[in-house]
Amino acid sequence: MEVVIQPTADALAGLAAAVVEGLARTKPDLVIGLATGSSPLAVYRALVRAHRSGTVSFDQARAFTLDEYVGLPDDHPERYRNVIRRDFAAHVDFAPGAVQGPAGNAADLPGACEAYEAAIRRAGGVDVQLLGIGTDGHIAFNEPGSSFASRTRIKTLTEQTRRDNARFFQGHVDAVPRHCITQGLGTIMEARHVLLLACGSAKAEAVRQLVEGPVSAMWPATILQHHPHTTVLLDKAAASHLQLAAYYRQVYEAKPAWQGL
Ligand code: GLP
Repeated sequence: MEVVIQPTADALAGLAAAVVEGLARTKPDLVIGLATGSSPLAVYRALVRAHRSGTVSFDQARAFTLDEYVGLPDDHPERYRNVIRRDFAAHVDFAPGAVQGPAGNAADLPGACEAYEAAIRRAGGVDVQLLGIGTDGHIAFNEPGSSFASRTRIKTLTEQTRRDNARFFQGHVDAVPRHCITQGLGTIMEARHVLLLACGSAKAEAVRQLVEGPVSAMWPATILQHHPHTTVLLDKAAASHLQLAAYYRQVYEAKPAWQGL
């Protein structure tokens, strides 16, 4: 796990976008794992800018979103499929149907979960996965107690997550669905490179657990300590509880130029 601490969210986004752009150039048919939430937004903006300036194309790429609320109407603005389209996919050149998300409105939800796993497998797996982290240490919607071996399935959101996400529903916690479909921790662990972004002091405890805590289902993101290629991109506030912050800074500053993230 590599920890990179930068002064601004834009600096972090620039690093993450550069990884995706670099991969898109060497492997035009790359598979990107897309996250919702506020953390990856600046990365999407950077990728859209790069696309508009002609330095990157996604016309052969595919993308899979991490999760989806269950039961939001198809046209609901906070349905993650719509969020990803609005914030990213509509502004670049993905081919029609190249961006997929779990079917949170399917009549057969367990069947939709299996179909989603199969679609990721058929695409050859995720090359680069963007991730945020919840204040309770969830990644995607894998809440505390999630199995480290879990695959795409239905989950019940914690009250904390529903409160955190109420800001996307005009502050109404009751409007936040109780259930979701999420890629499992086992699914996410198969992504070849994980880029996790976290900003702000509200994330500091979850980040401390993720990087320096014991691996525990109580803090689901800690499973990433077992991932062979995870990059944790933090601003100063999100890194403020890290015991070895000074060391992570030294490592990054002394990193040889040829060695990318
Ligand atoms: C939601 C998403 C997660 C995201 C988390 C943090 O619960 N399902 O994928 O990481 O929110 O969101 P934010 O980046 O807005 O803090």
